[in-house]
Amino acid sequence: RTSATQAVPAREQWTGQVGFILAAIGSAVGLGNIWRFPGVAYENGGGAFLIPYLVALLTAGIPILLLDYAIGHRFRGSAPLALRRAAGRVGEGIGWFQVMICMFIAVYYTVVLAWAISYFVYSFDLRWGDDPTGFFVGDFLRAADEPFTLEFVPAVLIPLLLMWVVALVVLGAGVVRGVQRANVVFIPLLVIGFLVLVVRALFLPGAVEGLNAFFTPDFSALADPGVWIAAYSQIFFSLSIAFGIMITYASYRRRRSNLSTPGLVVAFGNSSFELLAGIGVFATLGFFAFQQGVGIDDLESLTGVGLSFMTFPAIVAEMPGGAWFGALFFGALALAGLTSLLSILEVIVSAVRDKFGLTRAQAAYGLGGALAVVSVLLFGTTSGLTALDTIDNWANNVGIVASAIATIVVVMWVRRAGAELSGHVSALSTFKVGRTWRLLVALLAPVVLGYILIAKIVELIA
Ligand code: PHE
Repeated sequence: RTSATQAVPAREQWTGQVGFILAAIGSAVGLGNIWRFPGVAYENGGGAFLIPYLVALLTAGIPILLLDYAIGHRFRGSAPLALRRAAGRVGEGIGWFQVMICMFIAVYYTVVLAWAISYFVYSFDLRWGDDPTGFFVGDFLRAADEPFTLEFVPAVLIPLLLMWVVALVVLGAGVVRGVQRANVVFIPLLVIGFLVLVVRALFLPGAVEGLNAFFTPDFSALADPGVWIAAYSQIFFSLSIAFGIMITYASYRRRRSNLSTPGLVVAFGNSSFELLAGIGVFATLGFFAFQQGVGIDDLESLTGVGLSFMTFPAIVAEMPGGAWFGALFFGALALAGLTSLLSILEVIVSAVRDKFGLTRAQAAYGLGGALAVVSVLLFGTTSGLTALDTIDNWANNVGIVASAIATIVVVMWVRRAGAELSGHVSALSTFKVGRTWRLLVALLAPVVLGYILIAKIVELIA
């Protein structure tokens, strides 16, 4: 009884719509936009990929994004709390599952950011020399000779610690003074820096061939279910849905807030950045292929770690003015990743605060500190690379798809909260959602997601 009458501090709130939108875009725009989308699009039909991509955005991405917003805003809580209010104990369990996924991701996401910071510094003197791949695996990660020695690698460890300190200080400062402020500064900076990068890339010799390779549609790809899976997976990862992030962020909005219009802004903003990244990356790859006198297909790595830490350094080394081009690229990677990291960590902080009544500082420094230690022990050492890949695959591919399906089944089918949630969104927003939204979320999405889940598990086990 007494605890109920004690003054419960009011839930923190974004200052306004813009703060929320920037933070949500900050979460959505991350490593996935820069290093994942371009290669995925290229390998899945090029220009033709834009069709399944748009379909996935409209039929599942935006509808589930709005579901997350609606749950967080209507039930005003972190993922476990909001889902418990929406769907009881099982709902709370799903929320904690999302928190757990965020913990896994945080532990390795920081590591990639640490690499980006080191490479940002290396750009200035092109430290990787003329064998960037050997440099990355051997000199930098020291993973080449003895994979299982427990040896700390300073070039990884120092930026890793720095990243954790920055992230935890921002989180400790609060939703407005920390997370919102960081995004208000970093997102415009990121967009401007990235635009400069893309424009520069467009003027490189060979850029046009790169763009041709990227956009030339292979319509036969549309008949391949794998291409559709790739599109839905990309949209899911890219919009940060079903991680508990959007539930958490929406819970910090004022009670009377337009929900759906910002959702559209975030979704289209994220996709625009993604397309921009595709243009920038492929213009750059086109230049490199041209230099080498080969085709794009002959280049070694077109996505992920390989693209960023092996292919790009090689390109930068060949480019006039490569140093600042490299610095812009790795700077963008670090900024885009940092704002996503903040959102992942806020899911955890918010959840333990709601559950155990901790102060923000206790949650951020205590729990974040513990994660930092795990991350340093696992990945500040030479043995991290395989672990990183395994966690990434399971958490991102299997974990979130399962969590999205579970949320939909419990909230829309078991609790039948669809009408209430669409009413809630529509009452506040200019863009109304109704029966079409409920059908997409409750019927189409689980079918597509179920198919993806099975396909992924089969692929990972086989
Ligand atoms: N949406 C981010 C991206 O595109 C990735 C991300 C996933 C961020 C999950 C946070 C949580 O890179």
